[in-house]
Amino acid sequence: MDSAGTDKTVKFARDGNIAILTVDNPPVNAGSPQVKADLTEAVARCLDTAGLTAVVLVGAGGTFIAGADLKEFENRTVPPVLPDLLKRMDAAAIPFICAIDGSALGGGFEVALGCDYRLATATATVGLPEVTLGIVPGAGGTQRLPRLTGMPTAIELIVSGHHVPAPEALRLGMIDRVVEGDLLQAALAFARELPPRRRLLQETVPPAAEAEIAAAEQAVLRKAKRNPAATEAARLVRLSAQTSAEEALAEERAVFTRLRLSNEARALRHLFFAERKSGRISGVSGRSERQIRKVGIIGSGTMGAGIAIAAARAGYDVTVVERDADSARQGTQRIAQIAGEQGPALEVRSDMALLADVDLIVEAAFEDMGVKKELFARLDAIARPGAIIASNTSYLDVNVLARCTSRPGDVLGLHFFSPAHIMKLIEIVRTDLVTPDTLKAGLGFAKTLGKIPIIAGVCDGFVGNRIFAVYRNQCSFMMEDGTLPDRIDQALQKFGWAMGPFAVSDLVGLDIDWAGRKRRAPTRHPQARYVAVADRLCEEGNFGRKTGKGWYVYDNGKSTGLNPDVPGYLEAERKAKDLPRIDRDDDAIALRALASLVNEACLTIEDGIAQRASDIDVAFTRGYGFPRDRGGPMFAADLIGADKVLADVEQLVAENGVGWRVSNLLRETVAAGKRLADIGAA
Ligand code: 3HC
Repeated sequence: MDSAGTDKTVKFARDGNIAILTVDNPPVNAGSPQVKADLTEAVARCLDTAGLTAVVLVGAGGTFIAGADLKEFENRTVPPVLPDLLKRMDAAAIPFICAIDGSALGGGFEVALGCDYRLATATATVGLPEVTLGIVPGAGGTQRLPRLTGMPTAIELIVSGHHVPAPEALRLGMIDRVVEGDLLQAALAFARELPPRRRLLQETVPPAAEAEIAAAEQAVLRKAKRNPAATEAARLVRLSAQTSAEEALAEERAVFTRLRLSNEARALRHLFFAERKSGRISGVSGRSERQIRKVGIIGSGTMGAGIAIAAARAGYDVTVVERDADSARQGTQRIAQIAGEQGPALEVRSDMALLADVDLIVEAAFEDMGVKKELFARLDAIARPGAIIASNTSYLDVNVLARCTSRPGDVLGLHFFSPAHIMKLIEIVRTDLVTPDTLKAGLGFAKTLGKIPIIAGVCDGFVGNRIFAVYRNQCSFMMEDGTLPDRIDQALQKFGWAMGPFAVSDLVGLDIDWAGRKRRAPTRHPQARYVAVADRLCEEGNFGRKTGKGWYVYDNGKSTGLNPDVPGYLEAERKAKDLPRIDRDDDAIALRALASLVNEACLTIEDGIAQRASDIDVAFTRGYGFPRDRGGPMFAADLIGADKVLADVEQLVAENGVGWRVSNLLRETVAAGKRLADIGAA
């Protein structure tokens, strides 16, 4: 084998008459400008080398190419570009064989589609996830994929951005062979058989009925919601059967170029990197020394059941316990009901001693400090030495719980979001005495469950619920200022929130917050602004959806409109307090809500409870229905203008009075002209 150009990101080597091009740009061989230049040069060299019969393309480091380098997207595109490279490959006389291990995604899979044949290991994944980043494939993906899979499947794959495992990819025709054993040797053996050339663009798209195409399109577009890239991608795939490849490719590239620098794409890129950073803790790296195999869960209510299902589905050996036989029976039924046919079937037991040999206990019992303190002391006696004890509390002081045990270093909070087997967000609550190894074990567990963790310090509500509570409070102030709750919900939905705060309250149950307000009442400043309308609703037994009435009225679980009592309650309260009316339009409502979020987010970072602004963006887009295409509250504030948001914060603090203050961190960041989303970025 002869090889050359070792300082390049693409190595050229030969095995007899076959050229081997190895892309080597750790960690994921992303297609940086350098990679594109080196690949173009290496392909040119292959085409200039006499006597070659085939080219094998492979990636170094156990992966192919994870797509374009997303870090370079803010910069101007410099030639050579992928479409030109693929054109040259199309014009070549010899076949290209792509050998895929790890991932071939985005531009990486487009390079694979530009080859004549695709071989992959059984664990490889391929796909075109561009739409999830607010763009469309930019190097022929929308034109070549439908020629392999047919149009309905191509629309489904491209609009959803699904990462397709190799066996499924084989079934769908995206790859030609799944290889057992040595991938490169298999690719070389394949190349030696002198396969005929197969240029996808010369093939026609397999025919499909319009009804089938439209059904596939509607199904995926419904899920893509506010992402303009989704509709564009579907339209481009349709072009593959309507116009010449050349025209369709030019249109694809034009859309790609336009969307690349759109605010939506920027926001989604921000979240891509934010989600990779959110589980990092400075000074804590690597894996835990402890192995978690057996997981014990206390409580089989909605949360406990969801956590149990998530853990069992991730392959853990799960034991769920309840306080008595009756609750255990109900818990078993609840798990069966939530898990459905997919399972798992778990039998809840009523014997705490069964937790003696588990590696991690997640306590999801009733939210009551007295109950939990007693439980933690008991668990400490039962759990084996070295076992981790976690609480799923959403606001209680986990430091207090840790101190109820003889092993505070092994105690942390694992705050799941409901439904726990579906929601991706998890807060890893860092107690005062928790050891780095316990944190690493908690993060490892979260990762195995497929969750996206953020790190939170101990305070009422941790990161997410603390900030959300302030936002909701602010929305109730806007209501008291004179805007009805349904108008506020509509304005926030128009901004992009999945639901407005009043609709959320009805869904969660007004009684939950009522309990929280009563708990905090003794420590509330007597002059602090307080809106009592929700209390009135609760006093009358109107807890939202579950009672058929809350902020809205429900018929068979469907809202039929605003609760007609609400305007009267509001006017009475406004009159009693002699409040001036403040009229706000939709934009002002959305801005005020955002300002309250951003200010509290900065205070949360200032207090050392949250690590960085981007974690808050992750929390709100993954746990609270904030629009992903706005990148989370901090990124959204930067786009709207941090100074404009600060001005609104100053106004809201002045209007709200006692207990409200402007974050210094917010002021300093704006004064320095820095981006809010970059606070604590490291
Ligand atoms: N650009 C730049 N950096 C990337 C990257 C990319 N496309 N993909 C991954 N990385 C970085 C990550 O930020 C991370 O860096 P860090 O260690 O400094 O945080 C590192 O590579 C490893 O990534 P993960 O932590 O995500 O590792 P996993 O093993 O969990 O996942 C992956 C690997 C499946 C490749 C995942 O990273 C991924 O989904 N990457 C993005 C793939 C993608 O969407 N590609 C399409 C890009 S757009 C495009 O190609 C346009 C084209 O049509 C012209």
